[in-house]
Amino acid sequence: MKTRTIRIGLCGLGTVGQGVWKHFSASRARLESQLGVKLELHRAAVKDPRKKRAVKIPAGRITTDTLAVATDPKIDIVCELIGGTGLARRVTLAALARGKVVVSANKALLCAHGAEIFAAARKGGGHFFFEASVAGGIPIIKALREGLVANRFRLIYGILNGTCNYILTRMSLEGAPYAAILAEAKKLGYAEADESLDVEGWDTAHKASILAFLAHGVWVKTDRMIVEGIDRVSPIDIRTAATLGYGIKLLAVIGRDFENNELFVRVHPTLLPKDKVLANVNGVFNGIAVTGDVVGTTTYIGRGAGQDATASAVISDIADAVTLLTTGKAVAAGRPEQGPRVRLAPLEHVISRYYLRMTVKDQPGVLAQIAQITARNRVSIASVIQTAAGRTDAASLILTTHESNERAIRSTLADLARLKSVLEKPLLLRIGEFTD
Ligand SMILES: NC(=O)c1ccc[n+]([C@@H]2O[C@H](COP(=O)([O-])OP(=O)(O)OC[C@H]3O[C@@H](n4cnc5c(N)ncnc54)[C@H](OP(=O)(O)O)[C@@H]3O)[C@@H](O)[C@H]2O)c1
Repeated sequence: MKTRTIRIGLCGLGTVGQGVWKHFSASRARLESQLGVKLELHRAAVKDPRKKRAVKIPAGRITTDTLAVATDPKIDIVCELIGGTGLARRVTLAALARGKVVVSANKALLCAHGAEIFAAARKGGGHFFFEASVAGGIPIIKALREGLVANRFRLIYGILNGTCNYILTRMSLEGAPYAAILAEAKKLGYAEADESLDVEGWDTAHKASILAFLAHGVWVKTDRMIVEGIDRVSPIDIRTAATLGYGIKLLAVIGRDFENNELFVRVHPTLLPKDKVLANVNGVFNGIAVTGDVVGTTTYIGRGAGQDATASAVISDIADAVTLLTTGKAVAAGRPEQGPRVRLAPLEHVISRYYLRMTVKDQPGVLAQIAQITARNRVSIASVIQTAAGRTDAASLILTTHESNERAIRSTLADLARLKSVLEKPLLLRIGEFTD
């Protein structure tokens, strides 16, 4: 019997695309024998065909006509490795409408258009695989979808952005300010020229949206989440957190209350107890803790991005796509919800302990004014630390609270901002006392 040839088209040959070409070419023979097919990297689409690339690709295999690759009848698997939500969306929808398998690393696209993409896949008979979109080399999508299929997920939390973790790790090791570490991270290529997507938490939010979909079957857009970045975290916060027994990590937190059928998704810098595994995941590494009702808590750690880790995830999806094409064995896209649709939790149901740092006038009575405001909002103070604020007329006041909720703490912050003795916008961090 003639061995079937599966043809792959790459849309985009940048960092990830070239990694896929390189590692796929190196492992092709092994993959072919494992999967029982012949595999061919058929064509690749780019913006600028004259650009110098680290991989050797015959000129005849490169085109600028991306949609022609996506719709080429000879191509079975289309890898969308362009990024963004414009051309990437058109390429994805065109390929799915023709019943092809699309493999994507694009979290922004999924977060913005996930529902549309899966509907297009169902309608056109295509399939959409996206292992590379969250936590690069960690097979977290497969874990949630396949390995942990027996579970319902009360809590998932994770470090999903290597740039932020690198900056926070170095701040913590060196006591250096955020801006200095960010500037160096840019020089070393660990942060983009425009860092806002990473440090303001949006990249993590896109990934949180994908994990929430896999675990709970609903798409939560970023405007329905709490999203806060690391740009206001200072060495004093890192030092104080350490004194209290915590490290600071930018976390995505996806919580589900099954009794009330409520879900919340939030992204923010979090004080994490030092004895938690994720508090010790440092540098550009990612880590995710998943609590399932059957298995308990499992933890995943690995490289979250970069050419090789991302290529590893894309090639894993290509292998799954080949199995699907040759055996018809499909994997579920997400978790279909049974019963009434899960609701987003109102702010008063989103519970946490809080850390508040304020720069206040160094004069008598200020603490009493602040305590009055917290009491009025039913926020109970757990500890108070006062340190120098780097100016003679002011002090840094750091409060931690007992458990409260997002509505009460927001109201507290608004009241504090009106106090003349509070000199700058207070910094609010969450304390993540996650119970496994
Ligand atoms: N980099 C990572 O570590 C990483 C990790 C996880 C996920 N991802 C995701 O992977 C995707 C690709 O990221 P990347 O870092 O590889 O991006 P990249 O280096 O900027 O590469 C983008 C590729 O798309 C091509 N392209 C852009 N506009 C095009 C157009 N109008 N027509 C045809 N081709 C076009 C570019 O062509 P030229 O080469 O000719 O400019 C380039 O080859 C993104 O969704 C990203 O979020 C990246």
